[in-house]
Amino acid sequence: MSFVKNAWYVACWSDEVKAGELFTRTLLDERVVFYRRPDGTPVALRDRCPHRFIPLSMGRLRDDVVECAYHGLQFDSSGACVRNPHGDGRIPAAARVQAYTVHDRHGMLWIWMGEAAADPALIPDYGMLDEGSGYRTSRGRLHINANYELMGENLLDLSHISFLHEGLLGSPEQVHAKQEVVQDGDRLQCNRWMPNVSVPGVFDMLFRRDGQPVDMWTNMRWDPPGCFLLDTGVHAPGESRERGAWYYGIHILTPETARTTHYHFAAARPPGPELDPETNARLAEMRRIAFEDQDKPIIDAQQDALGENDFWDMKPVLLNVDLGPVRMRHTLERLRKAEAAAAQAR
Ligand code: FES
Ligand SMILES: [Fe+2]
Repeated sequence: MSFVKNAWYVACWSDEVKAGELFTRTLLDERVVFYRRPDGTPVALRDRCPHRFIPLSMGRLRDDVVECAYHGLQFDSSGACVRNPHGDGRIPAAARVQAYTVHDRHGMLWIWMGEAAADPALIPDYGMLDEGSGYRTSRGRLHINANYELMGENLLDLSHISFLHEGLLGSPEQVHAKQEVVQDGDRLQCNRWMPNVSVPGVFDMLFRRDGQPVDMWTNMRWDPPGCFLLDTGVHAPGESRERGAWYYGIHILTPETARTTHYHFAAARPPGPELDPETNARLAEMRRIAFEDQDKPIIDAQQDALGENDFWDMKPVLLNVDLGPVRMRHTLERLRKAEAAAAQAR
């Protein structure tokens, strides 16, 4: 399995890379070591010493350079070896590690692992997570034992909320949602509109707490390879969004390996009164149940069922709700092929 490499991925939350510490994570099948320069600028290097292949993250950070734990070669933030403590101290030309472009934005550390020039303007907008945005935010992270495309399908086909998350995030009548899938270049927008449906638990708690029917929407944006933004909410039937309750769901998938995924997620409620602590805690627990106890076991089991097989070779049955997921798969395939062709042409 190859990954789209010329793209921004979220490596971790920005505050996971702390001053004076080395932090490692496997991304796109490669171990990467992160640290911050004294001025806070993030650095990402391949986490493998070119001498005997020890993870550099087992070594130590000395100001601005990483020293390998085994024989003490030192590498700077560009990946160049700057000290060889052995022999006459000459530095072999091959003594360097790959450096990746990284960028802090929206509280996340973004990494670009491809050959093409990295343009921070291409990072999808999650401004609602910025400090000072006024949005009320909460966040979390999950490790999924499945390829990220399986999780992506889950996010682009929210018809599953009527079944897997019934009562919590969805209700049975929502299966009749009016759906709309719009592709704009590489970006997809998958919208569902569900008028006059019974109100799911999370939304009832955020809205009127009277169990009365609502109009509900789930509008999901996808920026390849793994960036999703859900705009979802409810209002009284026929009323306007301004009089309802809604929030953004931020869902970001980064492949760890071909069969495991880092899943960063956050919720951002629009500016307004703070919820009481008990409500906040109950909402957090409901979200935890939805992601950890409901989505994750399904996606993990799906990967087990697929095993080493290619998804399309398994001849999956296609339903009308698969339009978004199929577009996503085709888009990723197109991007991978374009990258492979560009690499061959070099
Ligand atoms: S393995 Fe890193 S210096 Fe030898
Ligand atoms: Fe789900």
